[in-house]
Amino acid sequence: MDITFINVGYGESILITAEEKEREDGQFVMLIDGGSAMDSEYQGESGRIRALDFLSKKRIRHIDLLVFSHVHEDHTSGLVPVIGKIPVRKFWTSVHLSPEHYGKCITPQHNLSETNFKALDSINNYSRLMKILTDGDVTWLDGIRPSYFCTGDLSIDVLGPEPGYREKVDESLDRVFTASSDEALNAAVTEVTETMNNASMVVRLHYKGCSVLLCGDTNADGFRHILDTAPELLKADVFKIGHHGQADSVSEELLHAVNPSFIVCCASNDHRSNSTSEKTFETIRRTLGEEKITCLFQDGLYAERWNPETAPRNGVTVHIEDGVVSWYLS
Ligand SMILES: [Fe+2]
Repeated sequence: MDITFINVGYGESILITAEEKEREDGQFVMLIDGGSAMDSEYQGESGRIRALDFLSKKRIRHIDLLVFSHVHEDHTSGLVPVIGKIPVRKFWTSVHLSPEHYGKCITPQHNLSETNFKALDSINNYSRLMKILTDGDVTWLDGIRPSYFCTGDLSIDVLGPEPGYREKVDESLDRVFTASSDEALNAAVTEVTETMNNASMVVRLHYKGCSVLLCGDTNADGFRHILDTAPELLKADVFKIGHHGQADSVSEELLHAVNPSFIVCCASNDHRSNSTSEKTFETIRRTLGEEKITCLFQDGLYAERWNPETAPRNGVTVHIEDGVVSWYLS
């Protein structure tokens, strides 16, 4: 199984392929999120690449399972061109938008902050996604569901979001679509933005003796329901930490429960919004021990930080085969 953390700049898009001979193209193809759609995110010599361009480069012609983590621009908007070009068989989301809002596009009159304009753009894109995908196999998921889906050698646990976070987001989203003034719209969009990270879908993959924990932007608080009830379900060899490695992304308790050998952080090389925070990596070193952990970053620069001549890459791939985890730059 290959898990590629595509270098979409500040954002996330993760391509997972697992050999399965009887399937089309001989493999099961899964995608989590699509990164940003903003032109500015892909400019410069950073090795950044749009999710659709990366999938085309890898000759991906179908997606068996598209997992949508949460409604933020850096995860949502890059999916719109993907689903316009590549057929999707199954779609999992935790965010329940009322069907009467599918395809609706909210246009603010004025007065929205830059942050909220971006947030509204992602909400509009989510409603576009739902309109396009609603004829397909769409499943709304939250809570803890071990071994929810199995195919070939791969099984997937759904571990989050905690239903309370998901319900809050659903209510706030409804207010966005029914707001009668810019003030009401601003307030509703702010609510969505502030509660959204911990409404991210959390999945754990098992493949040939290894586990991989992928949690969208869930921060340490968003794991409370699992830590309190079934912490053993968090154990994983590879942990893609939440919220781009910002200061709230991990805690000692969470790291002890996961106890990974590999940590992956999806963040832009400009360390925007205090992503790849020093506090986060200090907590990782203190809890797990520096020598035990390999930290990978999606642009490859950090993964090869001992070699400054290395060109930035389109992503980092974690390869799992017969119980062994290795990695290479894509
Ligand atoms: Fe994010």
